[in-house]
Amino acid sequence: MNILFIGDVMGRAGRGLLKGYLKDLKQEYQSDFTIVNGENASGYTGLSRSSYDELISAGADMITMGNHVWAKKEIFTYIEQVDNLLRPANYFAPCPGRGWQVVRVNKTVRIGVVNLSGTVGMDNLENPFLTFDKIYENLENACDIIIVDFHAEATSEKIAFSYYASGRASAVLGTHTHVQTADERILAGGTAAITDVGMTGPYEGVIGIDKDIIIKSFKTKRPVKFELAGGRRQINGVSMTFDNNFKPSKIERIYRLYD
Ligand SMILES: [Fe+2]
Ligand SMILES: [Fe+2]
Repeated sequence: MNILFIGDVMGRAGRGLLKGYLKDLKQEYQSDFTIVNGENASGYTGLSRSSYDELISAGADMITMGNHVWAKKEIFTYIEQVDNLLRPANYFAPCPGRGWQVVRVNKTVRIGVVNLSGTVGMDNLENPFLTFDKIYENLENACDIIIVDFHAEATSEKIAFSYYASGRASAVLGTHTHVQTADERILAGGTAAITDVGMTGPYEGVIGIDKDIIIKSFKTKRPVKFELAGGRRQINGVSMTFDNNFKPSKIERIYRLYD
């Protein structure tokens, strides 16, 4: 069983890359199930219904989100109407949508996908560690493989969570910083982990935004209007392989550049 995970898709550039190349990547990595973080796919924040449709037709089987989940207001309603779009599970109840889901892949394998937000340098949501404990009670006997998208700022929180969930989650994949880390590994408990998967979109900006605009913002500390960076583009992701006992045997970083 191979699972492909694509890091935060940024704007039109990111959507265009998936439209052009995701099917090839799925073929190359023999992906049975593909998860895409879509929190920046419309403009540079949020996910409109039309961008959601684009990601699904590009080949995403499940879309996870993050702190920008509510940026496009229409998601408040359509998140209830689709069955493959998750928002962080640790938003306070009541909250539209759902934070975890189980899907059946290749008819027999039950994959649970969980979306959580960190709380260090982020919104102060429910504790993600304790939220995972509660979700795991539902997933423990209902899943063969559990994949967590842990959307967080602090490397410490992401690494701590990966150890905390080791032996329960099959993979803990960090998102949100848009910068891929080189620490992919399989923890002793049988959990594939990486601190940040990275971003899919512009390569020559500042985490996706035009670099001159961001430099001006840092220099002047006055409000600026964000625009996506031009130039070369990147697809960031990881591919994971699970053995017949559903334990991870391989996690491989993907970092591709395109003109
Ligand atoms: Fe992001
Ligand atoms: Fe984020």
